This record gives sequence, structure tokens and C-alpha cells, in this order.
Amino acid sequence: MVKTALVTGATAGFGASIARSLVAKGYQVVGTGRRLERLNALKKELGDAFVPLQMDLQSKENISEALEELSEAFQRIDVLVNNAGLALGLEKANEVNFDDWETMIMTNVMGLTYLTRQILPGMVERQSGYVINIGSIAGNYPYPGGNVYGATKAFVKQFSLNLRADLAGTHVRVTNLEPGLAGGTEFSKVRFKGDDDKARKIYEKANSLQPEDIARTVVWLLEQPEHMNVNRIEIMPTSQSFGALPVYKED
Ligand SMILES: NC(=O)c1ccc[n+]([C@@H]2O[C@H](COP(=O)([O-])OP(=O)(O)OC[C@H]3O[C@@H](n4cnc5c(N)ncnc54)[C@H](OP(=O)(O)O)[C@@H]3O)[C@@H](O)[C@H]2O)c1
Repeated sequence: MVKTALVTGATAGFGASIARSLVAKGYQVVGTGRRLERLNALKKELGDAFVPLQMDLQSKENISEALEELSEAFQRIDVLVNNAGLALGLEKANEVNFDDWETMIMTNVMGLTYLTRQILPGMVERQSGYVINIGSIAGNYPYPGGNVYGATKAFVKQFSLNLRADLAGTHVRVTNLEPGLAGGTEFSKVRFKGDDDKARKIYEKANSLQPEDIARTVVWLLEQPEHMNVNRIEIMPTSQSFGALPVYKED
């Protein structure tokens, strides 16, 4: 039986690459995002195995209505890849635009949890399924300006681990995939509100991860035997490493 994966944020970056890789591996893929024209372009490329589903993760109603639109052949979700998400700004917490915090929480936390809550009962009923959450190293290590973005990803990490606790005995697997610096996506363009130059500089000479690296990891996870659960997987480009903890001294 052909397996169905629902991949959020398939209009760009990791999500588009994950959708391509899963279709190549024989999955049916439901790809979501707000930009329908991008989803339709992917449908043109990938054919009948790909179903575009316009969905704004900031709205519970919109998520529910979108899921109801799915034809019967695509309603049984075997794999949920909670990939969609964003970082907005790098301002300090005392200077930040609160709307940015709200958007990140609504998308990365509220949307992800609501969609997961909709999909999980079917997986538990069938005693089979896989939830792959795309977290971030920002959920593991703090950095200046990471404030709420990092906090949403720390939430996703702990949510993933707590899902594992609730799903014990159900054969449903959960992994939190935590990438470091990754280019080839719109992540920094979104963070810097369309400032292409600023975004480009982040990746200049950095030899960063690419969407295909994340997609390959997702495929690898899905190829592991059912008795094995990878709880968390943290991946950085070799060029990225750790800094010392700064100590500010005052006279
Ligand atoms: N790139 C990195 O360095 C990096 C590192 C670690 C973790 N991550 C995480 O990886 C995931 C994918 O990021 P990416 O780098 O591939 O970024 P990207 O190219 O900007 O893609 C983000 C995706 O999320 C979707 N999205 C954003 N807001 C949405 C909303 N309200 N409703 C529905 N979909 C929404 C976007 O679709 P629409 O705009 O069409 O809605 C887009 O498809 C994110 O969770 C990000 O936090 C990225």
C-alpha cells in the first residue's frame, strides 16, 4: 500500500526538497503552505503523487478546513513532517516588534501542535505512523536575538519528547530533527523581511547545509526499522561550531 506523507511548508526550502525526495521514494505527498502558486508548480513537477493543500498554520479554522478538503485517497496520513516555520528579526528582546513574536509562536508552536493533534488519532488507531518535527539548534543553544525563535524550537523539542511518552506502545514514532545553518532556503530572507543582501551575507563562504541534506536525513529516518526510534538528531554544517560563553565585565 502506498504511504502518504503530509509535509508542511512545501512551498520553499526544506519542505520542497523533502516533498521531492519522498515522491522519489514512492510516497504520496500532501504539501502545504500559504503560496498556492508554488504548490501548484510543485504539482506540475511531481505529478499525481503530489497534492497541493493551501493552509495557513496561524489559523486553527484554516487547518481544519484544509484537512477536510483532502480526498479520501490522501486522508490516511502515515508520515507527518512538521517543517513549516519561521524566524522573524534578530532584535534584542527589549526592542523587538511584539507582532513578530506572536507570528512565530502562532506558526511554530500553535500551528504545529494543532495540526499534530488533528493527525495523531488516525496514527494511534492504526498503530502506525511517524511524526518528524523540524526543530533547530536554536532550540538547544541560545544566541543574541534568538529570543522567541529559539524558545519556539525548544518547545518543539520538548513537545516531540513528550509525544514519545504519550505514544508509548502505539508503534507511532517521533523524531525532532535539529538543523544548524542551512542555505538554499528563504529562511534568512524571511527573517530579514525581504532584505536579500543581508540574507545572502549569512551564507557567503559558509558552506552551509542544503535542503537536500535535510531531505536525505528525513528519508534515512523513514528507512529505519519500526523498532528503532531516533528521538533527536542534531545536524550542523562542518563549518559551524561552538563559541565560548561571553562574560561582560564592568568596573
Ligand atoms: N534554514 C535554516 O537555517 C534552518 C535551520 C534550522 C531550522 N530551520 C527550520 O526549518 C523549517 C523550514 O525552514 P526553511 O529554512 O526551509 O525556510 P523557508 O524556505 O522560509 O520555508 C519555510 C516554509 O514554511 C512555510 N510557512 C511559513 N509560515 C507559514 C504559515 N503561517 N502557514 C503555513 N506555512 C507557513 C512557508 O510557506 P508559505 O510562506 O508559502 O506559507 C515555507 O514553505 C522551519 O521550521 C525553520 O525554522 C531552518
